[in-house]
Amino acid sequence: MYTQSFSVPDEGDKQAALKTVPKPQSAAEAELQKRFDERIDADGRIEPRDWMPEAYRKTLVRQISQHAHSEIVGMLPEGNWISRAPSLKRKAILIAKVQDEGGHGLYLYSAAETLGTSRDQMLDGLHSGKAKYSSIFNYPTLSWADMGVIGWLVDGAAIMNQIPLCRCSYGPYARAMVRVCKEESFHQRQGYEALLVMMKGSQAQREMVQDAVNRYWWKCLAMFGPPDADSPNSAQGTRWGIKRISNDDLRQKFVDATVPQAEVLGVSLPDPDLKWNEARGHYDYGAIDWDEFWQVVNGHGPMNRERLATRVKAHDDGAWVRDAAVAHADKQKQRALKSAA
Ligand SMILES: [Fe+2]
Ligand SMILES: [Fe+2]
Repeated sequence: MYTQSFSVPDEGDKQAALKTVPKPQSAAEAELQKRFDERIDADGRIEPRDWMPEAYRKTLVRQISQHAHSEIVGMLPEGNWISRAPSLKRKAILIAKVQDEGGHGLYLYSAAETLGTSRDQMLDGLHSGKAKYSSIFNYPTLSWADMGVIGWLVDGAAIMNQIPLCRCSYGPYARAMVRVCKEESFHQRQGYEALLVMMKGSQAQREMVQDAVNRYWWKCLAMFGPPDADSPNSAQGTRWGIKRISNDDLRQKFVDATVPQAEVLGVSLPDPDLKWNEARGHYDYGAIDWDEFWQVVNGHGPMNRERLATRVKAHDDGAWVRDAAVAHADKQKQRALKSAA
């Protein structure tokens, strides 16, 4: 799962996000900056030990930490349904998917650590409510069909967002994305397949699927972030090779790919303005409710409090596991020292 992070500053970071990137302070720094720019222009990768402008580092830490948090919080709405999955097969698939999302969060925390921000710092940001995560997880999951729709649409949107990140200029982030994208593809397919089965079932099942699509469609379009005109950080992100495709272009790709899938499935998408535009060669779609999006991003969605409380409780409940792991590692270190002596 991915977030609209790039355009959304964390709490208290709003001013910083809009500042322009500072000019180099010295001739030595100007030289380093020049080499950095040349590597970016040549489509090369920046690695953890390379010099990088502070603003580039900060932007990446914010984006990667928000992305990681979205993977971790994204486990919660689906984790809720593991015990209620309708069959052993669906339960096994859902467990595997939720476990994948946990893995995505861990790769990403590791990628952010290479930029000098510790996992503890990032988790503090999440648990204190300062750091953002994807607004899509602050809605309730009301029926089993929500599991299918999250896979199809939410993971589908995530793939659109994450494929260009495989070519991101920061090496560890780009490499993490390669595996993440393969797993997201499985997530999207399992969701779509679960919905196909439900659509061949009873009238009540078909209505359940349509209801879930109605509730999630617009929220998924908002996942790509504010329109390009309202995304002041995007141009710099593009310059740095972090952002390869604009929010609006990604959203359009998602709409164009999803409409035919909805037709095969036999559901309607809840947008009277949705229609093929022959001249543009794309689907037109209606206006997104950005007021609602900002409400939810800023902590006032239906599930913000509950998600955060559940996450903090899980972290607190897991303290003994972390303590035991540290004690075990210490013991092994002592043993190794003894046998080396
Ligand atoms: Fe994921
Ligand atoms: Fe996923």
